[in-house]
Amino acid sequence: MKVCVIGSGGREHALAATLARSAEVVVSPGNPGIPNSVPTPPEDADLYVIGPEVPLVEGLADRLRADGKRVFGPGAEGARLEGSKAWMKALLAEAGVPTARYDTFTDEEPALAFLDQLLPPYVIKTDGLAAGKGVVVTDSLIEARNAVGDYLSGAAFGDAGRQLVIEEGLVGPELSVFAVCDGTRVVPLAPARDHKRIFDGDRGPNTGGMGAFSPAGPDGIVDDVMDRFIEPTVATLRRRGIDYRGVFFAGLMLTAEGPKLLEYNVRFGDPECQVVVPRITSDLVDLLSSAADGHLGAAPTFSPDAMVTVVCASEGYPDSPRTGDRIDGLGAAEAIDGVTVSCAGVGRDAEGSLTTAGGRVLNVTGRGATVAEARERAMAGVACISWPGMQYRSDIAASA
Ligand code: AMP
Ligand code: GLY
Repeated sequence: MKVCVIGSGGREHALAATLARSAEVVVSPGNPGIPNSVPTPPEDADLYVIGPEVPLVEGLADRLRADGKRVFGPGAEGARLEGSKAWMKALLAEAGVPTARYDTFTDEEPALAFLDQLLPPYVIKTDGLAAGKGVVVTDSLIEARNAVGDYLSGAAFGDAGRQLVIEEGLVGPELSVFAVCDGTRVVPLAPARDHKRIFDGDRGPNTGGMGAFSPAGPDGIVDDVMDRFIEPTVATLRRRGIDYRGVFFAGLMLTAEGPKLLEYNVRFGDPECQVVVPRITSDLVDLLSSAADGHLGAAPTFSPDAMVTVVCASEGYPDSPRTGDRIDGLGAAEAIDGVTVSCAGVGRDAEGSLTTAGGRVLNVTGRGATVAEARERAMAGVACISWPGMQYRSDIAASA
C-alpha cells in the first residue's frame, strides 16, 4: 500500500512516521526534514491523507475523490465546521452540543451592543480561517471593542474577519479530543492537552500550540464527548447530506458546568497529533483507509505509554518569526532513547544544513511510562538542540 500525506508540518511528519510502520509513505510537499518529501502528490497512491485545514476547506478532498482517489479528509461541505465559525455554531445549536452562548455579526453597532451585555473574558473570532490567529480573548472591554472594529473593517484579517462571532468567555482547562469518522460510524482516539500561549505559565499571545501531552483529561471524558458532542454532530451532518470521512478534533473547555465545545477542527491538531497518533498500537493505515472507504472496523487501541511534545520555535514567533538560522543538535536529540523529532518549519541551506524556515520549527517528543518520564525525555532532547533565538516552553505537561 502506498500512502501520500499532504502537508508540510510536524503533524504530517508524525502521521507519515506512524503510517510507515505498515505502508510505503510519501509526504507532499513535506519539508527538507521529513523523509520521502515530494514536491507534488503522486498519481498512484492508494490513500491520500490530507493534513492541514486550508486544502480541506478549499475542497481538495472533493477534487481527489472526483478523480477516483481514496481520501482521508472531509470534503468542502464538512470542512465548513472549521472554515466558518458561524456555520459551525449553527450546526452545534441544531445538534444540541454544549457550547458558549454566541451571536454572529457583520455590522459594528449590534456587535458592540452584544458585547456590552457580556461579562469578561470577551471572546471575538473571525468567521473564516485566519491561520489560528483569528481569536481575541481579553478581559478589557476597550480592547474587545477595538478588535470588533479592526475585524469588521478588514484591517485585522481581511475578508476572514468581515463576519465575526462574539461569544461568552468560558473558564477552565482545555482538552483536545479526536475521533475518526467514516461518514456514519465514528470511533474515538486518545485525548491530548495543548499549551496555546507562547510563554511559561500560560502567559503572552496565543500561538498554534507550543507543546502537548497525551493521555490527558479526566476519566470518562472521551465517552461523554462521544455521546453528547460527536455522535450528535455526525447525525446532524448526515441529516444535511454531508458524508464526513476524516477526523474530528473537538477543542473543549472543561468548565464548572461540564465540558463545552470551543471549536471543531476538521484535521488532527498540531502538535497534539505528535502525541496521539504514535500511541496507536493497532494499524493506522487500516484505520484511515477503512474510514476513507466508509467501512470503519473496531476502534483503535492505544499504548499505555505517555507522550509529551515540546515545540521549538524561532525568534520572534508568533508575531514575526526570523528564519534562516542553522539548526544544531537534531541528531543528538534523536539519539536519546524514547525521543523523536518531527520537522515543521524546516529548510535547507546551500551547504546542506537544516535551517529554520517558519515560526514553529521542530517538535521534540518524548515517550515514557508516565507523563513525567515522557516530559523528562522530551526536555533532554530539547537541551541538545539550538539555534540563535530558539524559543520553547519549559513547563509543557509540568502540571499533569
Ligand atoms: P479557537 O480557535 O476557537 O479554539 O480559539 C483559540 C483559543 O482561544 C482556544 O484554545 C481558547 O484558549 C481561547 N478561546 C476560544 N473560545 C473561547 C471562549 N469562549 N472562552 C474562553 N476562551 C476561548
Ligand atoms: N494545536 C491546535 C491546533 O492544531 O489548532
